Amino acid sequence: MKFRKVQWLLLILALGGLLFVTACDTPTRYKLLTTFFDGVPPLGSATNVAPVAVPDSTPNQVAASPPKPPPEGTFTVHPPFQQHQCAECHQSSSGMGLKLQPPELCWNCHKDFLAGQKVKHQPVESGDCASCHDPHQSENKNLLLQKGNALCLTCHDDPLENFKFKHQAVESGDCLDCHTPHATNFKSLLKQSVKDTCDDCHDDLTKKKDVHEPVGDGDCLACHEAHASNKKYLLKKTVPELCWVCHDNFLEKAKFQHDVVEDCTSCHDPHQSAEGALLKKNIFQLCGDCHDDKDLKADKGHAGFEGKSCTTCHDPHVGTDMNLLKPSAKPK
Ligand code: HEC
Ligand code: HEC
Ligand code: HEC
Ligand code: HEC
Ligand code: HEC
Ligand code: HEC
Ligand code: HEC
Ligand code: HEC
Ligand code: HEC
Ligand code: HEC
Ligand code: HEC
Repeated sequence: MKFRKVQWLLLILALGGLLFVTACDTPTRYKLLTTFFDGVPPLGSATNVAPVAVPDSTPNQVAASPPKPPPEGTFTVHPPFQQHQCAECHQSSSGMGLKLQPPELCWNCHKDFLAGQKVKHQPVESGDCASCHDPHQSENKNLLLQKGNALCLTCHDDPLENFKFKHQAVESGDCLDCHTPHATNFKSLLKQSVKDTCDDCHDDLTKKKDVHEPVGDGDCLACHEAHASNKKYLLKKTVPELCWVCHDNFLEKAKFQHDVVEDCTSCHDPHQSAEGALLKKNIFQLCGDCHDDKDLKADKGHAGFEGKSCTTCHDPHVGTDMNLLKPSAKPK
């Protein structure tokens, strides 16, 4: 319902603008009329339109464009265009040439939003405002040439294309949920830091006692892609290769390895944990999930082990014997 109201309001405003522009010169009025209504006679053919001296490029160009269907509710007209202040931007003397080139032209009325920003979007920095904005009027909000993500995809490849796993935030969301179109102090044109970007939609992963260092540093992108990946969970590499980016590969030289060791996340949470060593559970529960009392019988080396942590005697990853015994626990 709310959306509808806004549409009506905009329509009324736009019609108000139409009344206003009947005071404009011919090409302007024509351009606006054709934008709203079908069947507006071409310039020069209409008997009730007084011939007005206009810069040469204007009438022909305008007359050549076919009448457009009525625009969507988001129609916007740039106030200086609507108010016929053409000379604010154009050299009134010599045709439609611009008084100044963008972006300087725009800074005459808008605050220079590039000033003091570290990261600037290339087309904005080079003053190519018209690659995204129509300087006069548009069917879209903010005078944009295209709606939503389509605007970005006129220059950028679809970041989801050819990937198996797509971030839902990109697939069904808006590029501008995370990015700013003009300039910012954060890398990759992000509106805020990477961690704050992710925290907007995901639970804080640094609340538990034990936090994985790169997670605590907010470096989510050490392990995840932002848009899409061919690996599950948007991972940059599959586990355990991912872990070897930062940790020494202790499997390489191992004589015996724990059957399940390559599946690091069967025991470790990659982000945080309430136990030490990022373990998902208390050590007895953790090992007990896969090893039952049968394994812990006295004749299996467990005489009098009396609740000692399993890792007092066993290495959880690798060993020089098949029982993964630490040197101190080997029978003498
Ligand atoms: C806010 C500044 C601004 C105002 C105000 C403005 N223009 Fe423009 N106009 C531009 C810019 C910038 C371009 C160049 C667009 C491009 O590079 O594609 C342009 C281009 C044009 C062109 C070339 C064809 C086209 O549409 O791209 C015509 C004709 C034109 N303007 C007419 C007018 C008229 C008539 C008015 C007054 C009713 C007006 N303009 C007001 C900025 C302005
Ligand atoms: C890559 C496309 C792109 C370019 C190039 C671009 N803009 Fe924008 N601009 C946008 C988008 C998208 C929005 C809407 C932002 C939103 O919805 O939050 C916008 C919004 C605006 C707004 C209104 C809201 C605001 O942020 O103040 C102004 C004014 C503006 N742009 C001016 C400019 C000027 C001046 C230039 C050239 C120096 C320029 N833009 C270049 C994409 C662009
Ligand atoms: C003569 C003054 C003037 C100049 C020059 C000017 N603007 Fe504007 N512009 C305005 C005013 C006034 C508004 C409406 C108030 C606002 O949003 O700041 C506006 C609004 C906008 C908006 C937002 C429209 C919306 O839907 O809210 C965009 C985008 C924009 N201008 C882009 C540009 C670009 C790009 C240039 C340079 C090519 C430019 N402007 C030059 C006066 C100007
Ligand atoms: C007119 C063409 C054009 C449009 C439209 C455009 N971009 Fe860009 N963008 C570029 C160019 C050129 C670069 C710099 C070269 C590159 O990194 O590809 C760039 C770079 C970027 C970067 C990397 C910036 C950095 O410093 O690492 C991001 C992020 C980006 N654009 C996002 C967007 C988003 C979001 C939109 C839609 C609002 C958009 N672009 C629309 C041309 C465009
Ligand atoms: C969920 C937040 C989010 C959304 C939504 C998002 N991005 Fe990004 N984007 C990022 C992050 C984070 C980076 C930095 C990636 C890095 O440094 O590894 C990035 C980087 C980029 C880059 C520069 C590096 C590259 O991968 O080429 C471009 C261009 C880009 N995004 C375009 C887009 C476009 C276009 C859309 C919409 C279709 C979009 N992004 C949607 C978060 C997002
Ligand atoms: C605009 C909201 C939004 C932002 C911002 C966002 N995400 Fe997401 N993300 C989602 C949604 C929605 C899902 C899908 C539902 C779910 O799995 O929670 C998702 C899923 C994921 C997944 C799981 C993918 C899978 O295959 O199960 C990962 C990993 C992820 N996001 C990482 C990130 C990272 C890293 C960032 C910061 C760069 C980030 N997200 C920013 C909304 C967001
Ligand atoms: C050290 C690597 C690493 C870092 C850093 C990391 N992740 Fe993950 N993330 C993973 C792995 C591995 C998985 C898959 C977990 C699994 O297999 O159960 C995952 C899964 C996820 C998921 C989906 C499943 C779930 O647990 O909800 C989300 C969302 C997610 N990560 C978000 C983030 C965010 C946000 C950050 C930054 C604060 C981050 N990750 C930092 C490795 C990492
Ligand atoms: C971006 C680098 C990076 C990646 C990738 C990474 N780690 Fe870490 N990890 C660290 C750092 C730094 C530490 C803290 C210093 C240390 O103990 O080496 C750490 C510590 C740990 C700890 C000990 C934590 C504690 O509190 O004692 C475990 C367990 C761990 N990582 C497991 C993993 C697993 C499993 C993976 C793969 C899913 C992985 N790491 C991937 C950087 C990384
Ligand atoms: C069967 C459960 C289990 C699996 C699977 C597992 N770990 Fe561990 N990991 C542990 C336990 C238990 C500790 C704590 C050791 C201690 O306290 O002495 C640990 C400790 C660590 C540590 C801390 C430093 C160290 O060596 O003591 C790192 C780093 C680590 N594991 C990485 C990995 C990586 C990478 C993988 C996958 C290749 C992996 N783990 C698979 C149970 C496991
Ligand atoms: C996800 C299941 C799983 C978890 C959790 C697990 N293990 Fe294992 N473990 C196995 C499998 C499977 C074997 C291969 C032999 C078997 O089937 O019993 C094995 C073998 C062993 C062996 C060598 C015995 C042999 O027959 O090769 C030891 C010692 C061992 N585990 C100790 C532990 C300890 C200590 C923990 C807790 C840190 C633990 N395991 C956690 C699944 C697991
Ligand atoms: C006091 C040292 C000690 C502790 C503590 C200990 N173990 Fe052992 N464990 C051993 C020894 C020694 C063997 C090898 C016995 C042999 O040579 O057959 C063994 C063997 C095993 C085996 C292989 C059994 C088989 O079928 O061959 C498993 C599985 C195992 N332990 C799991 C665990 C788990 C789980 C815990 C923690 C609940 C644990 N151990 C605690 C010393 C220990």
